[in-house]
Amino acid sequence: NIYNDDFKLGTALLVNEIYDPNGPDAQLIKKHFNSLTAGNELKWDATEPREGQFSFSRADQIVDFAMNNGIAFRGHTLIWHSQTPNWVFHDDKGNLVSKEVLFQRMKKHIEAEVGRYKGKVYAWDVVNEVIEPGDKQPGGLRNSPWYQIAGEEFIEKAFEYAHAADPDAKLFINDYNTDMPDKRQYLHDLIKRLKAKGVPIDGIGHQTHIGIMSPSAFQLDQMILAFTDLGIDQQITEMDMSIYTNDSEAFDTFPEDLQLRQAYRYKEIFDVFKKHKDQLSAVIFWGKDDLNTWLRTFPVKRNNWPLLFDERLQAKYAYWALVDPS
Ligand code: XIL
Repeated sequence: NIYNDDFKLGTALLVNEIYDPNGPDAQLIKKHFNSLTAGNELKWDATEPREGQFSFSRADQIVDFAMNNGIAFRGHTLIWHSQTPNWVFHDDKGNLVSKEVLFQRMKKHIEAEVGRYKGKVYAWDVVNEVIEPGDKQPGGLRNSPWYQIAGEEFIEKAFEYAHAADPDAKLFINDYNTDMPDKRQYLHDLIKRLKAKGVPIDGIGHQTHIGIMSPSAFQLDQMILAFTDLGIDQQITEMDMSIYTNDSEAFDTFPEDLQLRQAYRYKEIFDVFKKHKDQLSAVIFWGKDDLNTWLRTFPVKRNNWPLLFDERLQAKYAYWALVDPS
């Protein structure tokens, strides 16, 4: 398999993949991965759909599965603009709440969630996708309700609450397209600013949802290099490789030339990751197989083949390209 001593090798999964903890999906997960992430089950809409009404049973199943099998678990995610219920930001009349009310709600939520899994989660994505490539606010931040109500301070508070709830968990800021020079720079400067203020931030998560043509291995190399001066931990948190170059393509089958190209690209990129093993503590795929992939619904409904195992859980060329020959 592709276990190696360089970094943890992980996958995201959904609770339905392990309903049968000895079924084929669960077996494959146990065989190949030593870090797990819940794909949806720890997002705010899943764990606190209504104020003060927590539901952790699905998340518990995944965390228990990880613990029972000696697999490290990564928490995803505490603060995000998506998959967050509307009540979090609004009062009874539908107006945005004050900063004080928002911070209270954040604190309760984070204490409950991080507290529940204290000692079981080795890393949390505390904030997700707070840098916006489009509608930018000062500092490159996304114009989310979090930002509208509290400015940059919501990020500081999120890290403080998470750290108080589990001082041993490594706390991450997670984002996509972190290879893009502008976005990379905004993130770099934000982390630097937070660290200077004493905010307990330990690392950056690069989602790494990439395509069949870009970014290049060189650009991913630059992405990691851009953060090394900060002395923080780095992880690849959600890797997959769509086979399409635009939203209107859709194939019935996966062309052989693209299968080979994908395998070659995975290999080239993993060589870069291995080169940076001292900075990278984990490389995590956003799923294990081409059936259970979010890229079959996002950005449009279509076939896609972004991962290491095919729809029937058979190893693809991409998998064989990453097997450690030693
Ligand atoms: C995705 C899930 O995989 C889907 O099932 C869900 O419908 C939408 O969210 N970046 C992230 C993840 O940080 O939380 C997203 O997960 C994929 C993009």
